[in-house]
Amino acid sequence: MPSDDRLYFRQLLSGRDHARTDPLANQMVNFSYLIGDRETSQTLVVDPAYAVDEILDVAEGDGMALAGVLVTHHHPDHVGGSMMGYSIEGLSRVLEVASVPIHAHRQEVMSICRVTGVDPGEVVGHYGGDKVAVGAIEVELIHTPGHTPGSQCFLVEGMLVAGDTLFLSGCGRTDLPGGDPKAMYDSLRKLSSLAETTVLYPGHRYSAASAATLDIVKQTNPTFAVTDEASWLAAFGS
Ligand SMILES: [Fe+2]
Repeated sequence: MPSDDRLYFRQLLSGRDHARTDPLANQMVNFSYLIGDRETSQTLVVDPAYAVDEILDVAEGDGMALAGVLVTHHHPDHVGGSMMGYSIEGLSRVLEVASVPIHAHRQEVMSICRVTGVDPGEVVGHYGGDKVAVGAIEVELIHTPGHTPGSQCFLVEGMLVAGDTLFLSGCGRTDLPGGDPKAMYDSLRKLSSLAETTVLYPGHRYSAASAATLDIVKQTNPTFAVTDEASWLAAFGS
């Protein structure tokens, strides 16, 4: 197991840390992440969107070379594409500057390619439970359908990068195409079984805090206030 100081981890907020002048980036408050191995100076980037070059500049400024991309799900604010009349930069820009694999859940691959224009041959389709290594750091992929069929979260050394599956308060919408409230309920149960010391890093900054431990989230997030499926679907299933 690598030591803590070997893990490279950065959380980057759109509109603050990159894409500062982009009104959509400011409105959407998306998080991108860098996860790497300081010893091998390699990093993965999670959900690069808006000002991709600025995100990659952060990694480069830290002396880290890009080794791959992890995708939580196919929505354009996470991977680039067209949204609300805006064109968002994303995966296709990454591939213009670096020839690296894009790691996604297998059920999300075609949607990612449709939204971004990236060739399917550029995307590695994974199953839940797969691991993606960067240097000696291993990232576990957790399949969490509900927001989209192939949504996935990333677990690395007690940190959970959750995309739009789980926020500090609330969970991802299930009323968009591909959304499934029942699947979301099961995915949230799966995440709630992780160690309570796990730190949740969400896909958007919808709360004042940018991260919180699961024990706090389970006490304060209304999505965990209801613990039986029927009641949960009645309260949140839309
Ligand atoms: Fe989303």
